[in-house]
Amino acid sequence: MSIDEKAFVHDSALVESAVTIGADSKIWHDAHVRTRATIGARCVIGKGVFIDFDVVVGDDCKIQNYACVYHGVTLARGVFVGPHVVFTNDLRPRATNPDFGLLGDGDWEVGLTTVNSGAAIGANSTIVAGVNIGAWAMIGAGAVVTRDVAPYSLAIGNPARHHAWVCRCGRKVEDARCERCGDLPSDHPLYQ
Ligand SMILES: CC(C)(COP(=O)(O)OP(=O)(O)OC[C@H]1O[C@@H](n2cnc3c(N)ncnc32)[C@H](O)[C@@H]1OP(=O)(O)O)[C@@H](O)C(=O)NCCC(=O)NCCS
Ligand SMILES: [Zn+2]
Repeated sequence: MSIDEKAFVHDSALVESAVTIGADSKIWHDAHVRTRATIGARCVIGKGVFIDFDVVVGDDCKIQNYACVYHGVTLARGVFVGPHVVFTNDLRPRATNPDFGLLGDGDWEVGLTTVNSGAAIGANSTIVAGVNIGAWAMIGAGAVVTRDVAPYSLAIGNPARHHAWVCRCGRKVEDARCERCGDLPSDHPLYQ
């Protein structure tokens, strides 16, 4: 267990063994952090959030109330996860084997999902196992993400589709400019 002395863990949170939590992170009421999860510095883990075993959460992430981050998920730096977001990790789930026998560890395949730096996932979205969400992408509220999302893409709907390009600040980009920031960052697909 390595919980930085400058991290805050609310008394009602359940933090299992061998968890790492970085400096100035806050783990709020009723959150559950499973074994060997790693949470970076300056993160906010909201009320009732579930972080599964071996999940990696980078620095400066914000995970809102009741989001579920299951095994196989990696969040890079500065990722926003809205309230009630669910990451799935089993593409074809079953409770039992065909003969109703108990499933063992080898009976299901974990899909690996990555959310890259600065990306944001709107409230109540579902992220199907195995996708890659690009840096600074934005997922609209209630989306079902079934395919990779390009960096700086705003994807909405079920299934989530590219709808517009966004800036790092979250505003839409028109004519290769952000209405708030002006010029785009040089890694933006519309940078000229
Ligand atoms: C997607 C979003 C960023 C707005 O995008 P936008 O392109 O500026 O949206 P607009 O208001 O211009 O709407 C464009 C169209 O998309 C629709 N739309 C907007 N958000 C949508 C969503 N999440 N899912 C599906 N359709 C959506 C609008 O109804 C509109 O449709 P219409 O043209 O038929 O009227 C915003 O609606 C959203 O979902 N933000 C996430 C909020 C959130 O979850 N925050 C979490 C913390 S509380
Ligand atoms: Zn901007």
